[in-house]
Amino acid sequence: MSEQTRFLLNESDLPKYWYNVMADSPVAPTPVLRPDTLEPVTPDFLSVLFPMELILQEVSTEKYIEIPEEVREIYKLYRPTPLIRARRLEKALGTPAHIYYKYEGVSPAGSHKPNTAIPQAFYNKIAGTKALTTETGAGQWGSALAMACNMFDLDLEVYMVKVSYQQKPYRRVLMQTYGAQVYASPTDHTNYGRALLEQDPDNPGSLGIAISEAVEAAATSGGAKKYSLGSVLNHVLMHQTVIGEEALKQMDLAGEYPDVVIGCVGGGSNFSGIAFPFLRENLKNGQRTRLLAVEPTASPSLTKGTYTFDYGDTAKMAPVVKMHTLGHGFVPPSIHAGGLRYHGMAPSVSAFVNAGLIDAVAVPQKATFDAAVQFTHAEGILPAPESAHAIRAAILEALDAKAKGEKRVILFNLSGHGHFDLGAYDSYLSGKLEDFEYPAAAVGAALENLPQVKMPA
Ligand SMILES: Cc1ncc(COP(=O)(O)O)c(C=O)c1O
Repeated sequence: MSEQTRFLLNESDLPKYWYNVMADSPVAPTPVLRPDTLEPVTPDFLSVLFPMELILQEVSTEKYIEIPEEVREIYKLYRPTPLIRARRLEKALGTPAHIYYKYEGVSPAGSHKPNTAIPQAFYNKIAGTKALTTETGAGQWGSALAMACNMFDLDLEVYMVKVSYQQKPYRRVLMQTYGAQVYASPTDHTNYGRALLEQDPDNPGSLGIAISEAVEAAATSGGAKKYSLGSVLNHVLMHQTVIGEEALKQMDLAGEYPDVVIGCVGGGSNFSGIAFPFLRENLKNGQRTRLLAVEPTASPSLTKGTYTFDYGDTAKMAPVVKMHTLGHGFVPPSIHAGGLRYHGMAPSVSAFVNAGLIDAVAVPQKATFDAAVQFTHAEGILPAPESAHAIRAAILEALDAKAKGEKRVILFNLSGHGHFDLGAYDSYLSGKLEDFEYPAAAVGAALENLPQVKMPA
């Protein structure tokens, strides 16, 4: 066995195609509904928010979609990303398991999010869009889209969840440096934001609320602005599959194949990015890799949510989809993993969890930061709090393999670095970090307001 630590690909190995899991899906896609009529959406309805090329990708059943040359050129700034064997972590844990991680924090914005921000900005540019609106939780998505919009000369308005805006001022500055306008959501710029602030001026915001504001800003712009989403949708998840396609080649270089592939889940995009190409190998080529999605106990849509139709945002402006949901009105506790504070989950990830093709687990905040710090000590990289959820689950897998005396091959996605999350680490180091129990009462109340969809749910 070689002692190699980093498994690197050449620029020429950069994937030429995104993988569309819907082509291989053994579960039928569920309809996407208009929030006002609860009838299936039409391209006309979606075209208020998205350029046609992305709408076509959203409903495509083509197995592979070619990555435009303009997008590949920008991907080359940071892709292919490294696959690293966590030898020092393995040693620290005393485990016979082999732990590999795919490191997406090497992108200019610091996470996997540019993988979709770049094509979304590109397809908007060629459709003639001049400005985009979006939401951001942790600030990673907003930074990525700000970078991409700057590269394609598009204006950008970012609605940043207020609690993250306060926790991470430097993410705001990064977005502004790329040229974006950034607002703390709820804002007084939209009807919805104003209504919320009237009820509670201290509303901490949530991804669901920020999505509503960004959608309202685009939908009421008379066509001047389009909207861009950083997770959940099929086309977003598909753009992220460059991660898994590269990882397949890199595991090959390492001469191993993963028994388990792990990713954290907010809306599901980085997890899908690494896991869907391995799901293809399970479905089509007889592999049996366990795919494990990891979420916070404070916002546990997959492990405690209901699999049903719900609105994608709090103000009921975004489409209604079938997903694991905690209720669109649920505002998750203010954990530091801002990118995981979403009430729902990508419909495809939800359907695969429901069909038993993907497993899910929830981990609490303090144990997640224990894992993050253990990883930092061993590997030197300070992870984003979101990504630390995947690390926590990978460490538990490695310890389980140790207890059972098994040589297990573990691959996880390290979706981003935590250099802008030092406030969270400061809380952890000074013993101020709290765990939040599953907020059963708040979820129960939020679930009372699900849309009444007249089709088998
Ligand atoms: C570093 C990082 N990882 C993961 C996520 C979660 O999003 P997703 O589930 O779409 O990958 C985010 C979201 O902001 C993030 O910033």
